[in-house]
Amino acid sequence: MDKNEPSLPNRRLRVLFATSELFPLAKTGGLGDVAAALPAALGALGVDARAILPGYISALDSARGKRLLRRLPEGGALLLAYTPDTGLPVYLVDRPDLFRRAGGPYQDATKQDWPDNLRRFAGFSAVVAALALGGDGASEGDFQPDLVHANDWHTGLVMAYLALADGPRPASLFTIHNLAYQGNFPLAEARALGLPEALFATGGAEFYGQLSCLKAGIVYADRITTVSPTYAREILTPEHGAGLHGVLRARAADLIGIRNGIDARAWNPAEDPALAFSYDAARLSGKALNKAALRHELGLDAAASGPLVIGVNRLTHQKMADIVLAALPGLLAAGAQVVLHGQGDQDLEAALRAASAGREGQLVVRIGYEEAFAHRLHAAADLALTPARFEPCGLTTLYAMRYGALPVTRPVGGIADSVVDLEAGGGQGTGFAFSDPTVEALVGAIARARRLFADEPAWRAVQRRVMGQDFGWAEPARRYLGLYCALLPEAARSGLPCCAGDADSRDASAAVAAPVAAHACEEREAA
Ligand code: ADP
Ligand code: GLC
Repeated sequence: MDKNEPSLPNRRLRVLFATSELFPLAKTGGLGDVAAALPAALGALGVDARAILPGYISALDSARGKRLLRRLPEGGALLLAYTPDTGLPVYLVDRPDLFRRAGGPYQDATKQDWPDNLRRFAGFSAVVAALALGGDGASEGDFQPDLVHANDWHTGLVMAYLALADGPRPASLFTIHNLAYQGNFPLAEARALGLPEALFATGGAEFYGQLSCLKAGIVYADRITTVSPTYAREILTPEHGAGLHGVLRARAADLIGIRNGIDARAWNPAEDPALAFSYDAARLSGKALNKAALRHELGLDAAASGPLVIGVNRLTHQKMADIVLAALPGLLAAGAQVVLHGQGDQDLEAALRAASAGREGQLVVRIGYEEAFAHRLHAAADLALTPARFEPCGLTTLYAMRYGALPVTRPVGGIADSVVDLEAGGGQGTGFAFSDPTVEALVGAIARARRLFADEPAWRAVQRRVMGQDFGWAEPARRYLGLYCALLPEAARSGLPCCAGDADSRDASAAVAAPVAAHACEEREAA
């Protein structure tokens, strides 16, 4: 670190947020939303939080104010840019050989994983680590982070590069958004790329004869979080641990569950530019207008008396898309109108398309990925299908509730932490939760919903309660800040205002017991 720069108490805490997705630059799921909103929420708490993202074509196209920081020794360049909506600083690793391709972040246009994904994300991770360590003659010495916060397997190797580096290094935190995606690759491929030898040991990132980037993140990070308290407990079990429960148990003392927030600005039915009619809990008439408009647009029967049920999700085994498909006849027989929007497994896409044939007026399946359409669906919906076999957090369920669509879902992972079943909830219920991952259980939950829907005053009362919940980022961001501070002894010792209230981050709730002085850091910096 630069000897001449102010020490921690006199400047803001610096956090580099390493991610493979960041909305609106690149997004395939909830990670993109978290990467956009959490650094911004940390910024509001006085942290100098910046993201670092691969330079995909979509990211290069939509980022604002790009400027070249330096050429990379491997080829390509490191750029600094800003998100178009919130102005969040984002470093873009512009390696044309790795990231400038037509297709998604992880897959080509035919939905095959890019064959060189290890090379791509190991290359990205190496640049992140070099920036964080201030190595190789970096000219952008204006930002050497106190802490690197990495996310999911794509950035797991960042944790290894930092831990294996000589000399001083930033603190490190690794967040697991989904244990099912592990980034496992043949050891020979990893060796051929010249990855550090220490990784190939069982105590390193070796995983059943492969190299696991996710395991690297778990093993080498100073601390680990996942995106809900229930998922943090679940992943310690063989049933939900995806083979890594042993590795996670070994680090259980350093593993914390912090439920994601939602970007209450981007997902706000009262001010959503995607909607024709704005509304809120006190003015639900706008929601009815959005529903009528969507029915008209999609050719759904305008006179139907049953609930409008939407599903906006990746079409995968995790999200029970197979069960939703099989349950369609039962849902339609129960009088529901159904609109499904998503993409994913190609056989599920084809089967869902086929299922909608001949059911115009009652069932619409739109394969694809359209952000604005997702907003409009939530605004129109009475019910949102968000079932999952496992769910680390489940942002879609939180968005649905904010838009007054009651979730029909399973109480696993983050859903168990955010939805209270209406039958079991002692008057405080917020959704229809069913336990068995079966067609019968899903259809049964819809039947229950149908009964409540028929009682309009009761339905409205639940809708208002559901919409009134606060799922914003303010509290989760304070928890992350508490964790950061606990990992930075200098900050804690010095009484850095940002760290106020940080006791022992091993208990994340203790870490936020005292309120954080929101702008204290900036005031000090200005002083
Ligand atoms: P996951 O990250 O596992 O996919 P989440 O529910 O946490 O699940 O986040 C999913 C995010 O992706 C939400 O922002 C949701 O609205 C969005 N999403 C999923 N599928 C689509 C789609 N087909 N079109 C638009 N947005 C989608
Ligand atoms: C993952 C999980 C989802 C979570 C999201 C953001 O993709 O599947 O449950 O909400 O990441 O953390």
